[in-house]
Amino acid sequence: MSGKRKKIVAFLCNWCTYTAADLAGTSRLKYEPDIRILRVMCSSRVDPVFILKALMDGADGVLVGGCELGDCHYQRGNYYARRKVAVAKKIAADMGLDPERIRLSWISASDGPRFAEVVNEFTREIEEKGDTPVKHEAYV
Ligand code: FES
Repeated sequence: MSGKRKKIVAFLCNWCTYTAADLAGTSRLKYEPDIRILRVMCSSRVDPVFILKALMDGADGVLVGGCELGDCHYQRGNYYARRKVAVAKKIAADMGLDPERIRLSWISASDGPRFAEVVNEFTREIEEKGDTPVKHEAYV
């Protein structure tokens, strides 16, 4: 871990990944503190524009977390999320940004350890990539 913290925006669905994050916290699991969590009701609520806006505002990475496929509380929301993230990655690449700065993970509500693992892993990956090339500093 380098000295400088990264800025990772995390959109987490209320029913699974946000609950897993909560569980990780109440279980006192340690994970990198580089993420800024935004709770959404379903991962399908995360429009590609939200992801791209976060990157254009200077986020080093964006994590989208939802329920496991088949477990979405709104039936097929995470299937839509998967497509939306793919679109966001494509547009990011067209804009000259590394699409691997965007990650989509399915983490169930009871899996606090998996949440901590994903955050640590993604933080490490973002650290290896270095600072975002975008010079806008909305997330300080
Ligand atoms: S409610 Fe969690 S992904 Fe839809």
